[in-house]
Amino acid sequence: MGGSYFRTTNLLSLFLGVILLLSGPASAQLRQNYYAKTCPDVENIVRRVVTAKFKQTFVTVPAVLRLFFHDCFVSGCDASVIIASTPGNTAEKDHPDNLSLAGDGFDTVIKAKAAVDAVPRCRNKVSCADILTMATRDVISLAGGPSYPVELGRLDGLSSTAASVNGNLPHPDFNLDQLNSMLAKRGLSQTDMIALSAAHTVGFSHCDKFSNRIYNFSGQNPVDPTLNKQYATQLQGMCPRKVDPRIAIDMDPTTPRKFDNAYYNNLVQGKGLFTSEQVLFTDRRSKNTVNTWSSDSKAFNAAFIQAMTKLGRVGVKTGKKKNIRFDCGRFN
Ligand code: HEM
Repeated sequence: MGGSYFRTTNLLSLFLGVILLLSGPASAQLRQNYYAKTCPDVENIVRRVVTAKFKQTFVTVPAVLRLFFHDCFVSGCDASVIIASTPGNTAEKDHPDNLSLAGDGFDTVIKAKAAVDAVPRCRNKVSCADILTMATRDVISLAGGPSYPVELGRLDGLSSTAASVNGNLPHPDFNLDQLNSMLAKRGLSQTDMIALSAAHTVGFSHCDKFSNRIYNFSGQNPVDPTLNKQYATQLQGMCPRKVDPRIAIDMDPTTPRKFDNAYYNNLVQGKGLFTSEQVLFTDRRSKNTVNTWSSDSKAFNAAFIQAMTKLGRVGVKTGKKKNIRFDCGRFN
């Protein structure tokens, strides 16, 4: 991937961002450049930290991206997922659905917060939820995906419980109706859902998340028939029956370190790793969108930016009830 690819993508994204800005009102109180007066350099500070972390490990990309999703889906985008458990409270991050969140995501936010707070005028002015939002935008563009203007002004939540995670995150065996209904509850459409699923163009999955598809699938079919045969054999090789549960494999078998629309081409070829992904192509209601985006990266980028912006508006906390956390991992 050459430099010109990056430049074109970023210019396009800027354009798309402007369109987005003109096309729909931001959620109640979020806005771009929210910190223009209090901490004008905040986006550069966060980007510097994220870039340094990215240079240390690519895992930063999927780790931050997934952290943002899991934060927003449980009690809104309020950094509640970053809170550590205490003797009296099991926090969101210790719910079974969150145990595989990679440590590099948390570390990125904590380092970015420290860098922001090291600037005297910015100290305690920028929320952890906004830092996670900015870092997410940055990891996507660092991996070759589109960049976009972020809306800011979220406050940090004052509660984080493992119980609140129950039933609020999608599972890899979900069908289209289950996916759609879970997203609809957060104001996200089927199109948004298909766009957001492309986050799996980067990152890893543990074998147990899809082993039901490659072993003892059903009475008639030992392997899920919607799975590409060669890919199924490859998966069986990487994930033998009694595999070490810590083994994780690339979710995108073609371009695992590039944020791109190759994800949809994988689905067209039967190379969606989870049931919840392959169903986007096998269900006729979503198939057309997958087909279109598999060959039109501009249309995909536009839809992805819109969906991420909507995801960032889910359950945001503004006003007096919430606060800006001093330490992202603990309540003040
Ligand atoms: C639509 C339904 C979704 C389902 C069922 C789902 C499920 C999963 C599962 C099972 C894993 C593997 C976890 C592991 O074994 O460690 C995973 C990883 C991941 N998910 Fe999702 N996910 C969904 C949507 C999303 C969305 C909307 C995003 C972000 C916008 C996202 C971002 C990621 C990333 C980046 C990873 C890789 C994490 C890493 O490598 O550390 N997912 N997801």
